[in-house]
Amino acid sequence: MNQKNAKPFLKWAGGKTQLITEIEKYFPPSLTNRKFVYVEPFVGSGAVLFWILNHFPQLEKAVINDINADLIDTYQTIKSAPEALISLLEVIQDEYHSLDGSDEQKKAYYYEKRSLFNKREQNRTTHSALFIFLNRTCFNGLYRVNRKNEYNVPIGSYKKPTICDKSNLLAVSEALQKVELLYGDFEQTIDHTSENTLFYLDPPYKPLSETSSFNSYAKGAFNDEEQIRLKQFCDKLNSSGHSWLLSNSDVKGQNATDNFFDDLYADFTIKRVTAKRIINALPKRRGCLKELLITNQHV
Ligand SMILES: C[S@@+](CC[C@H](N)C(=O)[O-])C[C@H]1O[C@@H](n2cnc3c(N)ncnc32)[C@H](O)[C@@H]1O
Repeated sequence: MNQKNAKPFLKWAGGKTQLITEIEKYFPPSLTNRKFVYVEPFVGSGAVLFWILNHFPQLEKAVINDINADLIDTYQTIKSAPEALISLLEVIQDEYHSLDGSDEQKKAYYYEKRSLFNKREQNRTTHSALFIFLNRTCFNGLYRVNRKNEYNVPIGSYKKPTICDKSNLLAVSEALQKVELLYGDFEQTIDHTSENTLFYLDPPYKPLSETSSFNSYAKGAFNDEEQIRLKQFCDKLNSSGHSWLLSNSDVKGQNATDNFFDDLYADFTIKRVTAKRIINALPKRRGCLKELLITNQHV
């Protein structure tokens, strides 16, 4: 049986499930009451995307983008070949669960699948199955690659992780039929708008300190110059008449003299909201933090 509501099929750094109730307050009703296009240039696991797909039947289409090719390929596989993917994942799940009780064997299985993934010789469906397997079983659901684009996250310590959530994968596949998938830099998404378009931008966050934050999801860091380039993109969206909402870390909460975002986005509305961070290497730091929600809407 197909479940009704699609939800993220991955664990992802910066996943927004915890923040949806805050984010939804800033979606302009005047925009979402009629046909509209939704664009998410840094989609990750798509918590906001799925919320939008489940809540707005009047949505004309959604456009998602990410610089992570493995991720976008996996969305594509789920969209076009969910049954084949599910069959592969069921086999992997059975094999992995049958090793329960032997950490050594689980470890060997994990690293074997990881090196198969890194060979990048499999067809797309198999590569996507390996990607989902690694995401569900690795340390904290991280995605990290080295300079050679090799995924290098170690095994996590989950006892019997769900690797194949069949009903959700089918629901995701159905929901994605309305979604255009793009792979590459966020700026290309401006070519995929219509006159009534809402953007939700969730870039890699500016680190709160040198060591606190993990922000290299793919090759190349999202540094301050990138944050500035993103602000210039928001200016462009604004002058083209598009609505946007953007999340980022509240660096001022950590250091009262750090006005980086307050200065950068001085022309727009900046709200501070409470967020629960899920991915943080240090358990005691997984608490409540303030995050920024910035928008060109009048709220
Ligand atoms: C904070 S995460 C998004 C989290 C997402 N909202 C969720 O719920 O899982 C940021 C994403 O931006 C992507 N990214 C990094 N640099 C990018 C770029 N220049 N253009 C597009 N995407 C980029 C990363 O691969 C990552 O998936």
